[in-house]
Amino acid sequence: MFTRMDQGTKSDWEHIGQEHVPHIKDMPNRIYGMLASLEGVSLGFATDQLHHSLQTATMARRAGASDEMVLLSLLHDIGKTISVINHGQICAEIIKAYVSDDAYHIIRTHQDFQGEHYYHFQGKERDLRLQFKDEPWFAKAEQFTDEWDQAAFDPAYEVDSLESFKPLIDKFFSVPGQMAKAA
Ligand SMILES: [Fe+2]
Repeated sequence: MFTRMDQGTKSDWEHIGQEHVPHIKDMPNRIYGMLASLEGVSLGFATDQLHHSLQTATMARRAGASDEMVLLSLLHDIGKTISVINHGQICAEIIKAYVSDDAYHIIRTHQDFQGEHYYHFQGKERDLRLQFKDEPWFAKAEQFTDEWDQAAFDPAYEVDSLESFKPLIDKFFSVPGQMAKAA
């Protein structure tokens, strides 16, 4: 095996390719782990970030949303495991190869949509979402934000378990690109 990439051989790269397979296949478990690690991260809200994620996804699922929309509702805040400041963009890049373009953009911009409900308390403009009003995914982003995400901070709401969403996580993250292409 090479110690400098410029000395690599075809067989080195075949070996590396094979060694990547189990890591790629483990993607659903890494996503699941990121969600689980949001337990206890309250950040001052009435619920921790795991409950918020589960409530958002449970509300979407009970409203009959598509599988992809339920998935987005579940995952949209996993970027907070790294950094709250740009957590939408962090999550969007993590899921990009696995979801539709619309889903990618909804997550990438979701803080600007959510801002309508609180940015004025921080001296910021509330209507940042309007910069996306002509995008084909605008209505879906509004539904996600206004019906589920902003309404999902109720500790008394009985959420579905994280385990109940595991089949959905497996479906989307087991093979890169499959759902993105199908959407
Ligand atoms: Fe959220």
